[in-house]
Amino acid sequence: MYPERLQESLRAVEAARAENIRFEPRRMTAQEKDELLAAYHPDYKQDAYETLKIGPNAGEKVLHELADMLQAHPRIHSGDVDLEHPDYDVDVLILGGGGAGSSAAIEADNAGAKAMIVTKLRIGDANTMMAEGGIQAADKPNDSPAIHFLDAYGGGHFAAKRDLLYKLVTEAPEAIRWLNDLGVEFDKAPDGTMITTHGGGTSRKRMHAAKDYSGAEIMRTLRDEVLNRGIPVIDFTAAIELILDEGGRAAGAVLMNMETRELLVARAKTVVIATGGAGRMHYQGFPTSNHYGATADGLVLGYRAGAKLLYADTLQYHPTGAAFPEQIFGALVTEKVRSLGAKLINREGKVFMHPLETRDVSAASIIRECTTRDLGVDTGSGKGVWLDTPMIEKIGGEGTILARIPAMHRMFAKYGIDIRFEPILIYPTLHYQNGGLDITPDGQTTNVENLFVAGEAVGGIHGRNRLMGNSLLDIIVFGRSAGRNAAEKARSATPARLTLSHADRFEDLRREAGIDSDLVSPKLLPNYTNRPSI
Ligand code: FUM
Repeated sequence: MYPERLQESLRAVEAARAENIRFEPRRMTAQEKDELLAAYHPDYKQDAYETLKIGPNAGEKVLHELADMLQAHPRIHSGDVDLEHPDYDVDVLILGGGGAGSSAAIEADNAGAKAMIVTKLRIGDANTMMAEGGIQAADKPNDSPAIHFLDAYGGGHFAAKRDLLYKLVTEAPEAIRWLNDLGVEFDKAPDGTMITTHGGGTSRKRMHAAKDYSGAEIMRTLRDEVLNRGIPVIDFTAAIELILDEGGRAAGAVLMNMETRELLVARAKTVVIATGGAGRMHYQGFPTSNHYGATADGLVLGYRAGAKLLYADTLQYHPTGAAFPEQIFGALVTEKVRSLGAKLINREGKVFMHPLETRDVSAASIIRECTTRDLGVDTGSGKGVWLDTPMIEKIGGEGTILARIPAMHRMFAKYGIDIRFEPILIYPTLHYQNGGLDITPDGQTTNVENLFVAGEAVGGIHGRNRLMGNSLLDIIVFGRSAGRNAAEKARSATPARLTLSHADRFEDLRREAGIDSDLVSPKLLPNYTNRPSI
């Protein structure tokens, strides 16, 4: 179903398919990768960045769009709400209703704490729900957490906080067991063993999946568990400012009803930020694979309250976002497509890279193909390269696509493209926030007491690039542990008087630094209209 202008390139792909299946592209050397990244990866585009003037990371560079939000006006100040008479009073307040927030709530509940989830959309409206390819865990005889560590540490450019990464990989097998026991329907062989595949940068097959809707299956299970336990979920309600106590400890949040704009006060002994990622910030104009609410809110809330960010300058551009048709521009085409055998092909029908390099290297390689090499395909609204999906059935046998990646088949079939017989066009899409709030292994921020963070709002677990399947893993490992630890901490926490003075101080800092924008943050939702933002 491709238009006439793409037919010549399509014929070249088809003609070369048999040879391309046999062709074994070599891996790049470390030096080649470094040079490629420096020249083509969006993280290295200096003019996309600016230096923060205020806050805990003043002097460091972040993308313009994030700087705007981190240094914007708070939405409220002292006196706007009555902190003495809270609307909610809980032990553990969890901001965010995705996989990390839900895992935290379940474990806080297990620990006997009064937990409450607040989410600006609905529970499950989250990047977890959008995750496709799978979740890593070294639980096969030829694998080990040590090998998992080495893969992830190298893939993240040796920048991960080692204690966080150690926790991630050593607790991974237990995370899979927990999910399996809760009812996640992982892909299994007839004898009951988990089917595992490779992801980019993995030296062992350790990707556990539920077809290509692994995140939806995990989120379905976690959401059921939260609701079945009767844990309160306040939906369509956003956290717009953290509340601290007079000792500077996290002690709740000011909430805003997204429909009525009513302001509410939630007092808590501990707070868990699990607000997810930032794809809807559309950094550098990229499309995104993220859900509608991914606007870096947790980073803003934490930052204004004094929590430090780590690696906030590094984002993940997933190599394979849909580039055609326009209706699904930027939607995720799971890496599993490549782990099942599809290769990346340029306009002339040539394989131009190994399909399972790490994501940053793959994205940079695709951008090079479409820019300086001028071997990209004109999609009508931009450039892209082919991902030769028919290879999958030629390698894995007829039926592989419907059995292993049915969601991919469905997504393209809606537009008349049958990926079993026709390749698809892809281009990098903004997918993941590598950086975030700096935490210690117990999940607490390094410099605001009683403030915990889990999931995509954390920085440092993966270093400066994340491997596929380690995010679904981190939301479980760090979500559960944040919930447990926040509940434990809540037992001894005795918050002093509540205050919003940090928001007032932030205004002073803005003035002193000469920041005069009218923007307010957190952003809460993207604005694709000409009407004023929320
Ligand atoms: O390609 C994917 O399925 C994405 C997975 C991930 O980001 O972990």
